[in-house]
Amino acid sequence: MNQDELKRLVGEAAADYVLKHVPDGAVIGVGTGSTANCFIDALASHKDRYLGAVSSSVATTARLQQHGIRVLDLNEIDSLPIYVDGADEIDASGAMIKGGGGALTREKIVASVSEVFVCIADASKQVDVLGQFPLPIEVVPMARTAIGRRITDLGAVPVLRVRQDGTPYITDNGNEIIDVKGLQIRDPRTLEATINGWPGVVTVGLFALRGANVCLLGTASGVETIRYLPPQ
Ligand code: 5RP
Repeated sequence: MNQDELKRLVGEAAADYVLKHVPDGAVIGVGTGSTANCFIDALASHKDRYLGAVSSSVATTARLQQHGIRVLDLNEIDSLPIYVDGADEIDASGAMIKGGGGALTREKIVASVSEVFVCIADASKQVDVLGQFPLPIEVVPMARTAIGRRITDLGAVPVLRVRQDGTPYITDNGNEIIDVKGLQIRDPRTLEATINGWPGVVTVGLFALRGANVCLLGTASGVETIRYLPPQ
């Protein structure tokens, strides 16, 4: 199976997981990206069982609405039993790098409210040490250079994300993204807390302090379910 087929497989597995574990009438948290899109497409056949979805980006909202799935504002809901999203990398503890699609801030907000975070990924996303994939940081534009200096002090390389026309990529929240190259993240929880503390950082794309509870991993032999222990 190629990567697209694995994404479709885990998207369908996630819709089945939701059917089994989430009561009818609940609201589902939905991530962003090509794997999350496969989940949305699979969820659409069961949409009448749920009240609706909380979306993590403008793109996901559009796709949910195309399928006739009601999109609720996070402020309207009291609880979110589940959040389903992809990842750029995931390690053996369930810590992830996310934000390759630029939606890290809303993804982290929705994930923080959810009871269970289900990561859906093809096997290429599973790594021993996070950092081969550049770590995205959403920043307030005026802090771009100051944050870049802090990244250089860590021994890594800050790269401003740009669009095809060379202008800065702008997130759904009106900010910029710095992609950090050259990190080997052996202690993701500490690094997440450190970067979160830098003035001008909106969100770092490390999801370790609140990592995944479950990963549905698409492999050549099918979908593997990995459960992670809560951090001590
Ligand atoms: C978007 C994300 C995505 O979940 C991540 O980039 C994985 O994307 P894909 O499923 O397309 O490989 O964090 O901000």
